[in-house]
Amino acid sequence: MRRSVKVLLTGATSLPGLTLLERLLENHEVRCLVRPDSPNLSRLERSRTEIVHGDAGDEASLVRALTGMDAVAHVAGLAFAPQVVAAMRRAGVERLLMVGSTSVHSAFEHRSGRRKEMEKLVRESGLAWTIARPTMIYGSELDRNMRHLLRFLDRSPVFPLFGTGTNLWQPVYHEDLARGMLAALENQSAVGRSYDLPGAAPLTYRDLILTAAGALGRKPHIVHLPLEPVRHALALAERARLPLPVKSEQVLRLREDKAYPYGEAREDLGYKPRPFREGIALEAARLREIRMVRP
Ligand SMILES: NC(=O)c1ccc[n+]([C@@H]2O[C@H](COP(=O)([O-])OP(=O)(O)OC[C@H]3O[C@@H](n4cnc5c(N)ncnc54)[C@H](OP(=O)(O)O)[C@@H]3O)[C@@H](O)[C@H]2O)c1
Repeated sequence: MRRSVKVLLTGATSLPGLTLLERLLENHEVRCLVRPDSPNLSRLERSRTEIVHGDAGDEASLVRALTGMDAVAHVAGLAFAPQVVAAMRRAGVERLLMVGSTSVHSAFEHRSGRRKEMEKLVRESGLAWTIARPTMIYGSELDRNMRHLLRFLDRSPVFPLFGTGTNLWQPVYHEDLARGMLAALENQSAVGRSYDLPGAAPLTYRDLILTAAGALGRKPHIVHLPLEPVRHALALAERARLPLPVKSEQVLRLREDKAYPYGEAREDLGYKPRPFREGIALEAARLREIRMVRP
């Protein structure tokens, strides 16, 4: 699909959506489906893209937005897969890039269960689908993860680390992800395939913290805190049916390795993400520029 096509993009106001939008606009016409009450609409102000109001959870508004489109890049969330698939069938649009998450591989039901169901629905949709699964996304003040970590490391000389810190992470820089997603959408051989799109290589949580701190020129004192007593207390409270903000399973998930090979993406899509050290240095520089962290 390297020829120019008309793409309906959902989730354009999120970090992965915005970066994908920039890449898409280099070669395609893009219409963005945005909630009328989106607090982030101003992020699209400078893009030469068409904006239509609608809700990804509302099939009728999706069908309207699909008029004249050739493809869908659905970034707004796997949970809307039933509405997206149904609307595409009704509108006669076949090509779908569905953005999921590598959390689908988690051994923990609360992370993976629903995602597995949604991916199955996409695979059985009869559409020309491709599923792209990012790991944790980072790289700008708009990310949901690393900017908090960087700001904390900027302010605190001490870092409390729950557990051993030996579990693996493989966050993906937003621009590498956007290139991977674009290739997944444009490549005919990607139809009917699912791709994990992680960063270049896994690193331990402890190394991730130290690398992020290094990007700020800091060297925190790491204090190890045991994970097991926290999990144990939560498990007891769950058995007593007390309402809790986190589940013991979620604490256990902190110990789960989140490392993923990406040979298929490399071969089919030319996917070549950068190492965390490089990506986090770019994010630190950006946060310095906008004074979110000290110069
Ligand atoms: N963040 C990560 O580290 C991560 C990791 C793996 C996978 N992902 C996947 O990447 C995608 C974006 O994630 P994110 O974390 O960046 O999420 P986010 O910041 O919550 O963004 C969600 C996006 O979807 C839009 N949206 C939400 N509900 C909608 C609805 N009912 N109708 C239309 N648009 C709607 C939001 O628009 P508004 O401007 O209206 O809020 C926003 O643009 C998701 O598919 C997520 O599963 C994210």
